[in-house]
Amino acid sequence: MILPIYVYGHPLLRKIAQDITPDYPDLKGLVANMFETMHNADGVGLAAPQIGLDIRVLVIDLTSYADTDHSFKDFKKTMINARILEADGEEKASDEGCLSIPGINESVYRKNHVKIKYVDVDFVEYEEDYYGHLARVIQHEYDHLEGKMFVDYLSGFRKQLIKSKLNNLINGKVRCSYRVKTVKK
Ligand code: NI
Repeated sequence: MILPIYVYGHPLLRKIAQDITPDYPDLKGLVANMFETMHNADGVGLAAPQIGLDIRVLVIDLTSYADTDHSFKDFKKTMINARILEADGEEKASDEGCLSIPGINESVYRKNHVKIKYVDVDFVEYEEDYYGHLARVIQHEYDHLEGKMFVDYLSGFRKQLIKSKLNNLINGKVRCSYRVKTVKK
């Protein structure tokens, strides 16, 4: 089932998401809906707050990029109760967008390495290290669990330049190909 994606300005995107327990109702159904919603919007990552749930669940699917980088071949993951344990390495800038901020792409600095701990849908624990673009995608999605969004990192100057676009999103003026939920409607 395709769910509406919450758009910038909605207060739920600013809440700190909570851990869930294995008895969370229909977790596998929720994760399937998140993948479907993300694929429908041509996204590569989606966090539960973006569909209005303040729980620590995120999905990432980079397999469509496998042609350009073979290391993404099997990178389709569900991370539950994620905690970034370390984030370090050289900071690099690269363009980012977000399904909750349609129409805006900006260059963001991210650390080159993260160590992340999480469980999968069966509550099997993992602790993994990621570098480069994978580390970037994980940091972006993880930020959603912490109530943060990529535009928070922009300089005052860049923020000023996109201010009217952000205000449009807050005011419900959104143009994109997928269903959204704004704070105003
Ligand atoms: Ni995002």
